[in-house]
Amino acid sequence: MCAFRLIIALVGALFLYTPGALNAAPGIGGAHPSATSCGSCHLVGADVDPVQAAKLVASQEVLCARCHAHALEFSHPSGFSPRRRLPAAYPLDWKGDLTCSTCHLTHGQEPGLLRGKKRAREFCLDCHDQAFFSTMKDSGTSLVISGHLDIGRGRGTIDIDAHSLHCLGCHAGGHAPGGSVSVSRNGVLRHASGSAPHPIGRSFREASSRGRFHPESQLAQKKIKLSDGKISCISCHEAYKKDHGKLVVSLDRSGLCLSCHAK
Ligand code: HEC
Ligand code: HEC
Ligand code: HEC
Ligand code: HEC
Ligand code: HEC
Ligand code: HEC
Ligand code: HEC
Repeated sequence: MCAFRLIIALVGALFLYTPGALNAAPGIGGAHPSATSCGSCHLVGADVDPVQAAKLVASQEVLCARCHAHALEFSHPSGFSPRRRLPAAYPLDWKGDLTCSTCHLTHGQEPGLLRGKKRAREFCLDCHDQAFFSTMKDSGTSLVISGHLDIGRGRGTIDIDAHSLHCLGCHAGGHAPGGSVSVSRNGVLRHASGSAPHPIGRSFREASSRGRFHPESQLAQKKIKLSDGKISCISCHEAYKKDHGKLVVSLDRSGLCLSCHAK
């Protein structure tokens, strides 16, 4: 278990600090997973071509779970033979199983590594009909955001505050209506639009002690709220207002940012 966590940490570190490493995989330029030898998955090793690619040394439920242990819990079923025909855009593996690569392009480039252009509900509706979701109590809204409920990617390694978790419930993964966000392993929030990438879930007091920030006691006066002392979605966005998602302070001349950061 410890060794496993260490591997995750190392791989995470590679992704975070040397983006160039992403481009190091030979043959398939810039592909995930970059830090692993081809032979750990492909029977023929580094010389693999598209024809040989399907011959893997184990099932994907085993190979991928080495790094994505949670992708099998509270997730879409994977590793079984469907009893009905699925659209050709979602290929089964050589055993005829619906598996990770039925939905994902392992060596893809797009965020989420999904096949095709459809996301969220539209993606699900390629294989399921509307009636499949209509019978669910929440019409499937809690599921269609992803193939997995493990929305906090860094679960276990970062401690996201409760308010951010609430927002992530609708805004994480895929193309959430209103805009999607993701949180990377080091706790950095990224908006799909590229706006204001920012650490969240960190203690303001602790983090601000290392930099130039206004004292925590002055934040309230500047309309900034913390969630249990932590930087959160609700530090920048209104949480319980008619104006859903409005910024708490205008971005004009970096007003929002300078409410916490000191020049
Ligand atoms: C974690 C396991 C894993 C590793 C490591 C891996 N691959 Fe793959 N690769 C896959 C899977 C899964 C597929 C999809 C297989 C299928 O279609 O049945 C795939 C598909 C491919 C394909 C077919 C085209 C495509 O993109 O789908 C090529 C080519 C390929 N891999 C090359 C490589 C090379 C070169 C490396 C080493 C740099 C590598 N792979 C490392 C799992 C892996
Ligand atoms: C050697 C470790 C490793 C292996 C093996 C591995 N992955 Fe990953 N994968 C990663 C890392 C690291 C990331 C980036 C995670 C992050 O920062 O959120 C990632 C990201 C992903 C993502 C999300 C991409 C995104 O941009 O949101 C998907 C989907 C994924 N992997 C699927 C797979 C599948 C399917 C397999 C098996 C064929 C696989 N992974 C095998 C390490 C691995
Ligand atoms: C590539 C086709 C495909 C896609 C895309 C797909 N599914 Fe499925 N899903 C299946 C198949 C096949 C089954 C097995 C049951 C069946 O045949 O409907 C299944 C089963 C399920 C089940 C389990 C039902 C149960 O209780 O036994 C749920 C829930 C589900 N899918 C939800 C989703 C959601 C949500 C999405 C979108 C994120 C999605 N599916 C996308 C093919 C797909
Ligand atoms: C029925 C389709 C489906 C299957 C099967 C599936 N996934 Fe996913 N997966 C998704 C969707 C949809 C997302 C959300 C992608 C997005 O839009 O960001 C996702 C996201 C992910 C992510 C990134 C987000 C997260 O929660 O960490 C990883 C990693 C991942 N999948 C790995 C896997 C692995 C490993 C397998 C096989 C064991 C697998 N998936 C099987 C549909 C699927
Ligand atoms: C129950 C689901 C749900 C939750 C929870 C949720 N949102 Fe949203 N959010 C939405 C939807 C749906 C939209 C799109 C509204 C529209 O475009 O009409 C949206 C839009 C937004 C927008 C864009 C507004 C704009 O002007 O375009 C922001 C910013 C936002 N949400 C932030 C947040 C924050 C911060 C939280 C947590 C305090 C949060 N959301 C919680 C569903 C949700
Ligand atoms: C450091 C401040 C900050 C934090 C923290 C923050 N946001 Fe944002 N957010 C912004 C800014 C700035 C914009 C762009 C607004 C604009 O351009 O008018 C934005 C835009 C958005 C949008 C609109 C779509 C987009 O991609 O621009 C959504 C949705 C959103 N944020 C959700 C969230 C959620 C959910 C969280 C917490 C997980 C969060 N934000 C945390 C500053 C922040
Ligand atoms: C709630 C107060 C708060 C607001 C509002 C805020 N920040 Fe920050 N920001 C911080 C704190 C505290 C850190 C240090 C986090 C850490 O080190 O873990 C930080 C870190 C950063 C970093 C990471 C680089 C570094 O030196 O650590 C950047 C970039 C950044 N902020 C930009 C912005 C921008 C741009 C805005 C406005 C859109 C903004 N911040 C709004 C409190 C805030």
